[in-house]
Amino acid sequence: MASDPIYLDYNATTPIDPEVAEAMEPFLHRHFGNPSSSHSFGVTANQAVSAARLQVANLLGAEPEEIVFTSGGTESNNMVIQGLARRLASQGRHIITSSVEHPAVLEPCYVLEKDNFCVTILPVDGGGRVNPESVGHAITSETTLISIMHANNEVGTIQPMAEIAAVAREQGILLHTDAAQSVGKIPVRPDELGVDFLSLAGHKLYAPKGVGALYIRSGRHLDRLIHGASHESGRRAGTENVLGIVGLGKACGMVAEQLGVDFAHSETLRNRLWEGLSSRLADLRRNGDPEACLPNTLSVSFRGIDATALLAEIGDRVAASAGAACHSEGVEVSSVLTAMQVPVDYAMGTVRFSVGRPTTEAEVDTAVQMVSEAVERLRETAPPPSR
Ligand SMILES: Cc1ncc(COP(=O)(O)O)c(C=O)c1O
Repeated sequence: MASDPIYLDYNATTPIDPEVAEAMEPFLHRHFGNPSSSHSFGVTANQAVSAARLQVANLLGAEPEEIVFTSGGTESNNMVIQGLARRLASQGRHIITSSVEHPAVLEPCYVLEKDNFCVTILPVDGGGRVNPESVGHAITSETTLISIMHANNEVGTIQPMAEIAAVAREQGILLHTDAAQSVGKIPVRPDELGVDFLSLAGHKLYAPKGVGALYIRSGRHLDRLIHGASHESGRRAGTENVLGIVGLGKACGMVAEQLGVDFAHSETLRNRLWEGLSSRLADLRRNGDPEACLPNTLSVSFRGIDATALLAEIGDRVAASAGAACHSEGVEVSSVLTAMQVPVDYAMGTVRFSVGRPTTEAEVDTAVQMVSEAVERLRETAPPPSR
C-alpha cells in the first residue's frame, strides 16, 4: 500500500497533537453541556472554557479577560479591523496595513474601502519587512488603526513589531497584529510587541480547525461583528465551541512548555532542508528576511520551473505549497512575492516548505531527494533561459 506523502506544509495547517486530542475527548461525548447553563453539565463546560482561557492568556502573558474565543484567525482579524474602524469612524476613517498581509486582513480592509474608509497599503523591502518609518509617514489625522502581521505565512518574515508599536504609540494610534503564523513557533507576547489587539488561529499550533482567539488589551473596545446573546462578555455572540476551545487551551499549554524544543527542532530541520536542496541544485533563491524569519519556514524559488508542475510531479511523495499558480492566461505570482519584487523567473517556481513538530530528519532527506530529482527532470524537459 502506498504511504502518505511527507507533509511539509505545517504553515497551511497542523495535525491535532495526540495530547490535544486526548484533552478534547471527554468533551466529545460526556461533557456536552452548554457553558451558559446553570446545571452541572453547564458548569463543567464553563469551567473548561475558563481553564482554556487561562492557558491562552498565560502563553501570551496576558490576563484571561483579555482573551476572546473566535472561530479562527479570519474571524479575529475581521473583528478588529471592521469592529475598530466602525467604532472610531467619527474620529477618522483611515487604516494602515501592509502589502504582505493575509487575505483575512486585506479583504476586510477592502470591504471598508467600499464604505468610504481609506486604506494605505505599505510596501515591503526585498525580504518582506515593513519599514517602521514608512508607518509613521503614512499616519494622518484620520488614522484609527494600524494592522501589520507578526509573521508572514508564505515566506516566514517576522515584522519589526516593537519598532512599529513605538511609532503607533507616539501618535496615539491603536495597533493590531495577525499572529496566526507566529504563535506556537516563536515567543509572542502582546506587551513585548506593544500591540493592542492580536489574532491567533488554533489549527496552526496543533489545535483543531475552526477555533482561534483574539487578544484585546484591557481598556480597548470594538464594535461587535457577530450580534446575538452576551457570550464572551458581550464581545462575541454564539454558544462557545467548547470542544475546540479545550483543544486550543491544551495546545497553548503545550506551546508554553515546549516552545524552545519545538523551535530548535524545526530550525534544525528547516536548515537541513535548505542545505540539502542548495547543495544539489543550482539557480535557487531563498525568499524572506535572512534573519527575521520563522524557524520552520523555507520559501524556495527554483528558477525556470513552474511551481504547480513541480508540486504535481512530487505530489504523491511530498506535500508543500506553491507561491505561484499557472493559468491559461499565464502565471499568477502570489501578492507577497510580487510585493517583495522577487524576479518573475524565480517567483513562478516558488514553493513554500514548512516543517513541524512531527517532521523527522529522514523525511527531510527523502524530500530533498524527491524535490531535487523532480526539478532536474523538469529542467531537462524545459531548461531555464540563460541569463
Ligand atoms: C497569517 C494568517 N492569517 C490568518 C489566517 C486565517 O486563519 P484561519 O484559517 O484560522 O481563519 C491564516 C491561515 O492561513 C494565516 O496564515
